[in-house]
Amino acid sequence: MPNSRRGFLSTCATGAAVAAVPYFHWTQRTLADETKAKNDRVALGLIGSGDIANANIGAAKDWIDIVAIADVDANRAAGFNAKHAGGKAAVFEDYRKVLERKDVDVIHVATPDHWHTKPVVEAMLAGKDVYCEKPLTLTIDEGKLIRKVQKETGRIVQVGTQQRSAFKLFVTAMALVAEGRLGRIKRVQAAIGPASSSPVIPVAAVPAGLNWDRWQGQVPATDFRFLQGPATKDKDGKEKLPRPNTNCHYEFRWWYEYSGGKLTDWGAHHVDIATWALMLNGQTAGPTAIGGTAKHPVAFKDGMPVERDRYNTATEFHFTVDFPGGTQMVIRHDTDNGVLIEGEKGRIFVSRGKLSGEPVEALKDDPLPEGALAKVYKNLPMEHDERKGHWANFLYCAKNQKEPISDVHSHMRMLNICHLAGISARLGRSLKWDDAAEQIVGDDQANAMLSRPVRKGYEIET
Ligand SMILES: NC(=O)c1ccc[n+]([C@@H]2O[C@H](COP(=O)([O-])OP(=O)(O)OC[C@H]3O[C@@H](n4cnc5c(N)ncnc54)[C@H](O)[C@@H]3O)[C@@H](O)[C@H]2O)c1
Repeated sequence: MPNSRRGFLSTCATGAAVAAVPYFHWTQRTLADETKAKNDRVALGLIGSGDIANANIGAAKDWIDIVAIADVDANRAAGFNAKHAGGKAAVFEDYRKVLERKDVDVIHVATPDHWHTKPVVEAMLAGKDVYCEKPLTLTIDEGKLIRKVQKETGRIVQVGTQQRSAFKLFVTAMALVAEGRLGRIKRVQAAIGPASSSPVIPVAAVPAGLNWDRWQGQVPATDFRFLQGPATKDKDGKEKLPRPNTNCHYEFRWWYEYSGGKLTDWGAHHVDIATWALMLNGQTAGPTAIGGTAKHPVAFKDGMPVERDRYNTATEFHFTVDFPGGTQMVIRHDTDNGVLIEGEKGRIFVSRGKLSGEPVEALKDDPLPEGALAKVYKNLPMEHDERKGHWANFLYCAKNQKEPISDVHSHMRMLNICHLAGISARLGRSLKWDDAAEQIVGDDQANAMLSRPVRKGYEIET
């Protein structure tokens, strides 16, 4: 973001109170809501106006104005414009029109996973800073490209793993690790829950306003599928339609073609926290091997689903990831959603609702030193609400050209693990990993899955 006219977030309030948690000392600067003046506001170009864009724009609304929206579904773009921009934003089907605009300061990419890398790379090349939703990429090789272009352009890229800005839970857990309260970490566990399956979903007419070919983008073209289940009654007797089964909006995450399934969808949140803990504990080297078991709703042959008429990503799984020195990470679906961190001196569990364990209890008598949270948060200003705070972090970093809390390097370090779990699941065998070369060792078929064939017309030009 250019440093020009905007005094945005340049001043920070201090010492704001947070809910009473006895051991939690909020002594850091906070971004607060103080910058609402018109000339402080940031002009945002939005690419993808679906579910998460609605939540994100709600979180960032105090600081941004949406000046342009791109969506391949004209109805979604129009509805979003009316709801969040008073109908005043310019609306396009082709996101490149948003990137071209001189009046756009920053870009938000909130498209499905198979449509992240290309607009992120092109936004950086167009000189824009980007907040992109997680998981940043569809493949390991896309991550190599994003890191390369980010280094060459120097643009700021924040990934939407907002758990990194949840201070009372995840950041406090990271501070406990960084302050040595758990000792050397032996094992981390990311429990991310099972994934959806579906009945056979029939081919259906493409809805008016949706450019299905462009929605599919780089992925080989296939039929649009849609199945609306019957309405159910809520407790007040009101009829409600369930979310439809489809290979498009929202449900794309259960198709390996467009996503890595639960392993990257929630993996991008909890494997991120588990990997962050290991790194703060001095485990700077990446993994050496991954193996385990996975159950899919359809048969796979040579890493590809045999049936293409229903959800196909892994519904159940249990993977173990080996790190140098004997540390292990477990990724599983079948226990309480959250991250368990086990060290030689104690263990903690952290989730979106809970932080527990003896080292947490011990904080009552021996609180974390002042500045411990700020240290793991790269000494950047903080906000109380995690989604709002994650946006404030991005906008502050864009203005001040600093590395945000969820940067592309730390994100890809953990997303590589999620992608490797997906490759291992699809092939049904363990993999050895050369982290320095970012290659699977001694398995040509698996190595070929570090990237995917890109449909003609959707290649990324750098
Ligand atoms: N951080 C979080 O907690 C969180 C939560 C939910 C979703 N997400 C992520 O956000 C992303 C979007 O998920 P969602 O649930 O909002 O999906 P969604 O299907 O509701 O919305 C995606 C939108 O992108 C549009 N789109 C597709 N291709 C496009 C293109 N080429 N150009 C412009 N628009 C295009 C679609 O038409 C749709 O409106 C996913 O990557 C998902 O993993 C993150």
